Amino acid sequence: MILALETSCDDTCAAVVTRAGEIRSNVVSSQAVHGRFGGVVPEWASRHHLENVNAIVDLALQQAGATLDDAELIAVTQGPGLVGALLIGVATAKGLAASRRLPLAAVDHLQGHVAANFLEEGFEPPFICLLASGGHTLIARVTDHRGYETLGQTLDDAAGEAFDKGARLLGLGYPGGPALSKLASEGDPTAFKFPTAARVAGLDFSFAGLKTALLYKVRDLGPEETARQAADLAASYEFAIVEALIMRVERALEAENEPRLAIGGGVAANRLLRERAAAIGVPVHVPEHALCTDNAAMIASAARWVEPQPFPDYLALDAYATRRA
Ligand code: KG4
Ligand code: ZN
Repeated sequence: MILALETSCDDTCAAVVTRAGEIRSNVVSSQAVHGRFGGVVPEWASRHHLENVNAIVDLALQQAGATLDDAELIAVTQGPGLVGALLIGVATAKGLAASRRLPLAAVDHLQGHVAANFLEEGFEPPFICLLASGGHTLIARVTDHRGYETLGQTLDDAAGEAFDKGARLLGLGYPGGPALSKLASEGDPTAFKFPTAARVAGLDFSFAGLKTALLYKVRDLGPEETARQAADLAASYEFAIVEALIMRVERALEAENEPRLAIGGGVAANRLLRERAAAIGVPVHVPEHALCTDNAAMIASAARWVEPQPFPDYLALDAYATRRA
């Protein structure tokens, strides 16, 4: 069994997963405190991880009906993410692994989002993968379990960031994606026309103009009209984000001999995106909600194809902040 930790952002996550990709437990402790600040406060995130990580690991083992003695590999997110937050997971993983002389697998967070698709019944490569989270948005070609080739990426904001910033402009809570999406379900997506950066060539994305367009619209309407038309604004804004994503996905799929699509990252939890992806007409795999947003089961999944580091080599392991692949 693999015991995995994930602390790249604000959620403290631990999971127990078998070599075959069967999830025995998948525990996530979210930090409600960030709602008050309208975003993630890195120092708070680190403190939360520090206070909770041991209890979350214990809970993951307990829910799996296992102890540390049952683990044959410890896996941990090495980056990208908030370095202070990552280091709590890395230090904890080192301690757990070293205490039993277990090997340790250092996993890339984005590869984890891809590998969420390999869990349980699994979706096998090759496929095109849309990764859309709060920190990253990219389209990749996945030909094996070990990595991916980036075909396009956002030139500015991530899709999840666009959801979060839009939600903030509409006075909704943080994280904004689920709140904005919920409000959008009561609105008319054709009420307002927001830009999809269709002119950005190839498979790259741009969400900065969309966010600015909403800002100007909210200013034009004023607080009362904005509140009255909030559902229509949310629906139109969500429509534009999803349209921008689907447009590039379709472009990427057109170039494939055997087009198949997988989606990962927090935005993959979005109902409209899932519907639109399913309607493209190619085989599509989207992990269940809890495996789309940050979790440690996806890190364990990716760890199955990472070269493990033996004790004591990993004691020098560091975290990295920015995307490598
Ligand atoms: O992958 P994730 O949990 O963390 C990062 O690695 O960033 O993604 C979080 C992002 C947030 O921006 C959040 O607003 C967005 O995913 N998100 C959603 C939904 N659920 C989460 N966006 C749109 N619709 C949702 N239902
Ligand atoms: Zn993530």
